[in-house]
Amino acid sequence: MLQLSKTSSRALAGFVAAAGLVLSLGAGVAMAQTPQQAIAFRKGSMQVQQWHLARVLVPMIKGQRPFDAAVYLRAMTTIEVLSGSIGDGYIPGSETGETRALPEVFKDPASFRAAVERFQGEAKRAVAVARSGDEKAMRAEVVEMIKACEGCHERFRSK
Ligand code: HEC
Repeated sequence: MLQLSKTSSRALAGFVAAAGLVLSLGAGVAMAQTPQQAIAFRKGSMQVQQWHLARVLVPMIKGQRPFDAAVYLRAMTTIEVLSGSIGDGYIPGSETGETRALPEVFKDPASFRAAVERFQGEAKRAVAVARSGDEKAMRAEVVEMIKACEGCHERFRSK
């Protein structure tokens, strides 16, 4: 029979408890893929992007907030990173519930994907322009990016 000292059995018990925690966290993550969680994810992502746009980017290009290249770049990079997963929350079963996503998102996934890709392209360009430090180009590019937000909302989000 395996003999364990008091310390090693305590360590083992701790390890087993930790492994159990990891497993239950894993299960929690898998269970999080409910339609409600998917809707919360996509809204949350939009809210974070809106925050950076309305609090940092637009006030800076309008001169309502002192221009700070590093803060501008950080905000734009956040949007660009989030643009990568912007289409991920529209899983089967999430067509209804606390959502303003229109049925077209699910009925015409190719067009929705095209709107996602247009936005991703603009966000990528906007980061490149922000790195260049050319303020005039930054102003023009943020406008193009906002058009990509609004273009998608017009077609795929209810009022
Ligand atoms: C590819 C399409 C698409 C793009 C691009 C897009 N959105 Fe959205 N947005 C949606 C859809 C669809 C919803 C509705 C989500 C829901 O209610 O499930 C939404 C919802 C929102 C909401 C409301 C979130 C809430 O809590 O109800 C905000 C704010 C928002 N978008 C901001 C933005 C901003 C800012 C951008 C650009 C930086 C952007 N969106 C780009 C499709 C898009």
